[in-house]
Amino acid sequence: MAPIKFPLLLSLLLSSIFLTINPVKCDDDEEDTLYDGINKYRASLNLKALTKSENADCLADKIADQFKKQPCTNTTGANTVPGTEPQFSNYPDLLSKCHLAISNTRDGIVMPACVPGLVPTKVLTNFTKSLYSDNLNDSKFTGIGIGSEDNWIVVVLTTNTPTGDFAPYSSAATNLISKIGLNHFSFLLLVASIFL
Ligand SMILES: *[C@@H]1O[C@H](CO)[C@@H](O)[C@H](O)[C@H]1NC(C)=O
Ligand SMILES: *[C@@H]1O[C@H](CO)[C@@H](O)[C@H](O)[C@H]1NC(C)=O
Ligand SMILES: *[C@@H]1O[C@H](CO)[C@@H](O)[C@H](O)[C@H]1NC(C)=O
Repeated sequence: MAPIKFPLLLSLLLSSIFLTINPVKCDDDEEDTLYDGINKYRASLNLKALTKSENADCLADKIADQFKKQPCTNTTGANTVPGTEPQFSNYPDLLSKCHLAISNTRDGIVMPACVPGLVPTKVLTNFTKSLYSDNLNDSKFTGIGIGSEDNWIVVVLTTNTPTGDFAPYSSAATNLISKIGLNHFSFLLLVASIFL
């Protein structure tokens, strides 16, 4: 039995170490600053704070990735009329990479902005002092995801209705992992592997 058990134990051990030393990336200062800024703006309008949505975060990252390398022009970002942003033909792929479907994202909204160097004060006003402010001043939105790449920062707003809650098409396992948190999950794996 031992020769069979050992590789299993080793791989569990390695994967838990890997997961533990790779916590969710935390170098998103611009994103955190914008998140705080937007919620202060919401507070000033007597609206509830937006809660972070992991799935909206994921989509915002993927969309920022599409914009990356595009120059800031007057035809993209906060200076455009909402709805005229470039539509990506691979949008369904981006959704599915984040385990999302058109049906549960339809009422959400995607707001890209381009600010050279992502200067925090300028980033914030690009959302609060542009046409986007109408969306931030809308109580139907309850969740938020933010992604950034190069000079681009993308805000995705979600609702608490089935047509905009950005719920992943769920499987019991992924729900369990996201509830416990990856690091705790890997800790469980570690403990499990010790007792195998
Ligand atoms: C936007 O850019 C285009 C091309 O560079 C230019 O022709 C147009 O006048 C600009 N529009 C505004 C409102 O600045
Ligand atoms: C958005 O950021 C750009 C780049 O810094 C700036 O030129 C523009 O005035 C900003 N727009 C608003 C509404 O703050
Ligand atoms: C926010 O929305 C409310 C209700 O629609 C409106 O009365 C108020 O003027 C808006 N405020 C801003 C800053 O857009």
